[in-house]
Amino acid sequence: MAHLVAPSLLAADFRRLDQAIELVNTSEADWFHLDVMDGSFVPNISFGQFIIEQIAAEAKKYVDVHLMIDDPARYIDSFARAGANGITVHAEACTHLHRVVQMIKESGAKAGVALNPHTPVSILENVIEDLDLVLIMTVNPGFGGQKFIYHSLQKVRQTAELITVRNARAIIEVDGGIGLQNAQKVLEAGARVLVAGSAVFGAEDPAGVIRELKAIAPN
Ligand code: DX5
Ligand code: ZN
Repeated sequence: MAHLVAPSLLAADFRRLDQAIELVNTSEADWFHLDVMDGSFVPNISFGQFIIEQIAAEAKKYVDVHLMIDDPARYIDSFARAGANGITVHAEACTHLHRVVQMIKESGAKAGVALNPHTPVSILENVIEDLDLVLIMTVNPGFGGQKFIYHSLQKVRQTAELITVRNARAIIEVDGGIGLQNAQKVLEAGARVLVAGSAVFGAEDPAGVIRELKAIAPN
């Protein structure tokens, strides 16, 4: 199945948020990727439900919300109400991960779990069948524009293997330092959704980069 491209609005110029939304709506991009940071789980603060609600109101494409916050169970319903089509929580931020995954599903959103670079894929063994998406962080979360961690390719392969062995339906998303230079490699490792922040919004021709990312054909 064809891969998907999800520009991360974290790298957009928020003085011109309307233009960033328009870019995703009118380009070949598939999803909006929206990064929520609480200044506790990650050392940075971004935006929350209020901004997401406004983006979602204008979005003509799937709204993929990546929660980099402690104890996300507190906010699942409010992000679903704000317009998230998919909600991804970090395994490291949930004491009761299984319960949080069920909460996401009950909210009507697709359920995703993200893993930090140091977190082993085995943490998903008892929840993989319930997931729509696994997000493999390819940088340490908190900031855009960081360097891709090469070892994460191995984790993408391990996740793909787990999904196959269990006959699960989850797709794999990669996030952090993704661009034209490594997109082919992550797709070949088994990724299905490419998140790209600075590679898209830092480019002179963002729609062109999105088009090129979509055109990559894994060998
Ligand atoms: C990082 C965020 C990413 C970030 C990606 O913590 O989860 O979604 O915006 O930005 P780039 O593509 O610039 O690494
Ligand atoms: Zn993200």
